[in-house]
Amino acid sequence: MLPTIARESDAVVMIDQRKLPSEEVYVRCKTAADVARAIRTMVIRGAPAIGVAAAYGIALGMRGSKATGTQKFAAEFYKTCELMASTRPTAVNLFWAIDRMKRLYITLRGKPLAEIRERLIREAQLVREEDIAINRAIGRHGAALVPDHKTVLTHCNAGALATAGYGTALGVIRAARESGKQIDVFADETRPFLQGARLTVWELQQDGIPTTLITDNMAGHFMKSGRIGCVVVGADRIAGNGDVANKIGTYSVAVLAKENGVPFFVAAPVSTLDLQLASGGQIPIEQRAAAEVTHVCGHRVAPEGTAVENPAFDVTPARYVTAIITENGVARAPYEESLKKMVG
Ligand code: MRU
Repeated sequence: MLPTIARESDAVVMIDQRKLPSEEVYVRCKTAADVARAIRTMVIRGAPAIGVAAAYGIALGMRGSKATGTQKFAAEFYKTCELMASTRPTAVNLFWAIDRMKRLYITLRGKPLAEIRERLIREAQLVREEDIAINRAIGRHGAALVPDHKTVLTHCNAGALATAGYGTALGVIRAARESGKQIDVFADETRPFLQGARLTVWELQQDGIPTTLITDNMAGHFMKSGRIGCVVVGADRIAGNGDVANKIGTYSVAVLAKENGVPFFVAAPVSTLDLQLASGGQIPIEQRAAAEVTHVCGHRVAPEGTAVENPAFDVTPARYVTAIITENGVARAPYEESLKKMVG
């Protein structure tokens, strides 16, 4: 399995996803600030993976804390949580992981600081291990939905690289293949950051899963051809009514899927559900640097002075979503009811 993120004795090590596929290099984060920078600059990305990274960031930060008194330690703990929360706004898994660390910390108050440090590290490890198990369960639930002898279209990278391992959308594809289905994959290149071209194709090639790269604007053409059996994507945040925030371009894919009668599946852990939000309009959308749009892999393709918009995510209304596949089962409309059952 691909080593997205792992702990070493005094550090957290991540494969540098900005450099893939041309270079396979690893970044060692020794402090909470190192982890925060890695999340912000997308050394590590993908909703579940940045949740795991945030948990490690908090644990690493408190391991390195020089505080000897409870109050100073508590102040540093909450400051480190804030640092992690400031990295990226859309993926709710980040905030879910921070809340989990906070909840543990509250139960540990009054214990020796050495024990608290150790327990925070263990909790981060657990978040990582559980994520892999969750993805396998998502895969098992989703595999049955994938039509045999067809092509699965996916957008962005919701694979092992976007999680602690195995992936959500790519987990469904892996599980469908493991169950014997004869499927191949179409990967949208996913402008502007090219997670599809650089990461999904690379990741699926490692597994020997036949994968074809298409540019984002080819998706409609292939859906109309009848070749695409279903779309499977991941999610960064899902509102209580089933609206799904995911990588920019997902909404267009969903509309095209509905128009062409292609099932549109979202694969995500329960930690991606934000049931406090009534609808997707309340999901904060990250705006990223203009250079990601004016440049491709560091090469300028637009004139100097070009006005740019760069929302990193869009929201797909629930009416386009055929089903949401979680580790606890498959939710279908009406999502207000079915998603609550997934959490329960
Ligand atoms: O900006 P990114 O690369 O972090 O965006 C990633 C996505 O949109 C993924 O589809 C989503 O996080 C699900 S990952 C299992």
